[in-house]
Amino acid sequence: MMNKCSAAGQVQAGRNVVVVGTQWGDEGKGKLVDWLTETAQGVVRFQGGHNAGHTLVINGVKTALHLIPSGIMRAGVKCYIGNGVVLSVGKLFEEIEGLERAGVEVRSRLRVSEACPLILPFHAAIDIAREAAKDKAGSEKIGTTGRGIGPAYEDKIARRALRVQDLKYPERFAAKLRELLALHNHLLQSYLHAADLVWDDKMAAYMQDGAIEFEPVYAEAMAQAEQLKPMIADVSRELNAAHQAGVNLLFEGAQGTLLDIDHGTYPFVTSSNCVAGNAAAGSGVGPGLLHYVLGITKAYCTRVGGGPFPTELDWQKEGTPGWHMATVGAEKGTTTGRSRRCGWFDAALLKRSAQVNGLSGLCITKLDVLDGLHELKLCTGYELDGEIIDILPLGAEEIARCQPIYETLAGWSETSVGVTCFDDLPPNAKRYLQRIEETTGVPVHVVSTSPDRDHTILLRHPYHA
Ligand code: GDP
Ligand code: IMO
Ligand code: MG
Repeated sequence: MMNKCSAAGQVQAGRNVVVVGTQWGDEGKGKLVDWLTETAQGVVRFQGGHNAGHTLVINGVKTALHLIPSGIMRAGVKCYIGNGVVLSVGKLFEEIEGLERAGVEVRSRLRVSEACPLILPFHAAIDIAREAAKDKAGSEKIGTTGRGIGPAYEDKIARRALRVQDLKYPERFAAKLRELLALHNHLLQSYLHAADLVWDDKMAAYMQDGAIEFEPVYAEAMAQAEQLKPMIADVSRELNAAHQAGVNLLFEGAQGTLLDIDHGTYPFVTSSNCVAGNAAAGSGVGPGLLHYVLGITKAYCTRVGGGPFPTELDWQKEGTPGWHMATVGAEKGTTTGRSRRCGWFDAALLKRSAQVNGLSGLCITKLDVLDGLHELKLCTGYELDGEIIDILPLGAEEIARCQPIYETLAGWSETSVGVTCFDDLPPNAKRYLQRIEETTGVPVHVVSTSPDRDHTILLRHPYHA
């Protein structure tokens, strides 16, 4: 780890960076994407949907983004929604209109892939009804965001999804929609007993006897299509052309590695690949164009929703370290407002994340939240069925049986809030960062010390060759 205030070197034209979450989401990806966009001219979302919630703080003003890439707050930056994203056009326009009210011009800078599968009202209805059914049966809920993400990806993989390009052809759209409704309404009415559930007014407006009706969904989609048309694009082609022209691209991951459908704590995961490799498939560029992978990593761990969490603390009991993280870190979800569960930093989990993402460097966020804790624990491995292991195993049941092995480090009482130079950090904070490097095997290249865009320590610039 170098000891300096700014990273030497020069930005390399045509160099591209992938930003991924290395834990269970909410690591601070949005802040870092916004900050890094000073050096990028195009920002690309490649997976997930409006289950994501990315908070940016610029000059004290907060902006929450769900679908639109976090590069939108920098004038002139182009934003792309790649084919790997499941798109609710209604939610997209809600977000565009919110930004426009705040004086941000969006429409001329946003390109949406015609290959994005659509999220339609029945996807959210199925998502919500399934979670309710699990609850009723007494089985552990996934704790989804209820946005229809899983059901929309199911339709994509089953090769029956309506996609953005279908919006251009009303008759084709209507025929496919009728087929989808026949299938999904059968599920909603006969299997999930949707008529017995209480629906909010918005969803109720599409429903009759627990089934989603054709007319309101179709009419709404056709009205939205007219507004969306100017933004629909062959994103793969545009990204490749931008690269040829020497543009620096930034691929913005949503969720986090432990929520990845393959590599996460299955089945308590989201329904997409959140790992860096999917930046290529989810946007239509070759993997050779992904030059650097920045793993955004909270200085402790949080998780929203159900599923195992080996280093989880009691975060509700006043005065405990978990409570300190939850309150000082304001750990409430950006999308659903749910409390985030909190726990110690897990280096064994990070090892899996480093492996499946091919991390080039780490960005440690929320270091400031640990100010004032006199002692910190760091998990270096687990005991699983009598054996010692140093990397997170696969699958929820195995992970739930892991007993964390901790080492203890001294905390610090000084403040690190707003520090922008590594040398100005409290000595014990520097030691903590060094221990993170040693135990995860990944160098720390960036450190974040407050929600604000400018409160960031740069050790090595991802866009420098
Ligand atoms: P994302 O989903 O990974 O983009 O993260 P979220 O935006 O959902 O959650 C991260 C939260 O932490 C947001 O409220 C950020 O404003 C805030 N945040 C980001 N970096 C820092 C930091 O270094 N210190 C503190 N205190 N807050 C931060
Ligand atoms: P960002 O991009 C944290 C979690 C949900 C749930 C699981 C499945 O802000 O980091 P889903 O609705 O995707 O089917 O829910 O995934 N989840 C997130 N947790 N941050 C996110 O996004 C998340 N997106 C989904 O809480 O446990
Ligand atoms: Mg978030």
